[in-house]
Amino acid sequence: MRVYLDNAATTQIDRQVIDAMIPYMESHYGNPSAIHFYGRETRAAIEKARKTVAKSLNASPSEIFFTSGGTESNNMAIRCAVHAFNIKHIITSPIEHQSVMYTTEALEKEGALTVHLVQVDEKGCVDLDHLEELMIEIGERCLVSLMHANNEVGTMMDLNEAGERCRKYDAIFHCDSVQTVAHFPFDLQKTYIHFISGAAHKFHGPKGAGFIYINHSVKIPPMIFGGSQERNMRAGTENVYGIVGLAKALEISYDHLSETSEYIRELRNYMMEELKSNLPDVSFNGDIDGSCLYTVLNASFPLNNKTQLLLFNLDIAGICASSGSACSSGSNKNSHVLEAIHSDPNRVAIRFSFSKYNTKEEVDFVVSKLKLLVSEPVAV
Ligand SMILES: Cc1ncc(COP(=O)(O)O)c(C=O)c1O
Repeated sequence: MRVYLDNAATTQIDRQVIDAMIPYMESHYGNPSAIHFYGRETRAAIEKARKTVAKSLNASPSEIFFTSGGTESNNMAIRCAVHAFNIKHIITSPIEHQSVMYTTEALEKEGALTVHLVQVDEKGCVDLDHLEELMIEIGERCLVSLMHANNEVGTMMDLNEAGERCRKYDAIFHCDSVQTVAHFPFDLQKTYIHFISGAAHKFHGPKGAGFIYINHSVKIPPMIFGGSQERNMRAGTENVYGIVGLAKALEISYDHLSETSEYIRELRNYMMEELKSNLPDVSFNGDIDGSCLYTVLNASFPLNNKTQLLLFNLDIAGICASSGSACSSGSNKNSHVLEAIHSDPNRVAIRFSFSKYNTKEEVDFVVSKLKLLVSEPVAV
């Protein structure tokens, strides 16, 4: 048996998504910029996909731009907003994804601006009062970049509340929503927000396809120059089958949101309860009983001879999970997220992340293997 519990990293592509994409690989191969029949065919598919994405998020199609994924969208929002608004101060958090963290750090190194870090608590909750204090202290229009849900521990931020705080100080607000698009409802017309990012491979779509939402009130320059694709905002021949797959995957996700989310939430809670009753030393990282991704369970075990290679041993046992850290060998000390929330460095954190394709039987299998891999042998 092989169990895939690494869905926060990427997901299995849905069969219906593959079926929607195939014609754009086989017969509908025209360059969307071409004016002939084949070009018009793929152009129409892209515009249909744009409408689907916009409708799913209650945005306007003119606010959706296709990209290669979450990393590019985050880079584009931050770099282009800084350029367009002559931003001198960015407020972000110490638990952002690398695509935000390294972009803001790079801009600071370039000498263009100062990066301020908003405080987070031990559950990974962003302190929105501190965000306000920082905006008051800065005293000029700044860029706020905060993630909707943390990819390692799953803690979520109240997007509307954060938006309202930003509105008070006229801040430009970017939210990395890569882990929440297609998993939670969005109403972008009602939310004070300028940019969000999405990546198809996080919701059973293809890799290499993503989007950025840019609120109509914002005009930014492109990040990639060349042709006039994406209304001059993102040059380069479009990834047509990726875009078609992204829209199909998003449509499926939102059509089945309530039943899928309930199913996955139950599965995750089941695993949490099973771990608690079988492994007394287990604990959980993140806002586990509060506002948290239902797709993520970050479990923590004492560091000892048996657990220091836990991730590798899980893999050998047929279980694909992930550690939050770049170095996956053992203790928590390589994860900037676990470090920022002051997680105990003498514990080993494993992120189990779920999708609609996981089952209770798989969870039982994982818990049974964990019992063997984590428990210390009884001394005789
Ligand atoms: C929160 C978050 N932001 C951004 C990204 C980057 O997305 P992509 O892999 O599509 O570039 C990821 C992917 O792991 C993520 O989890």
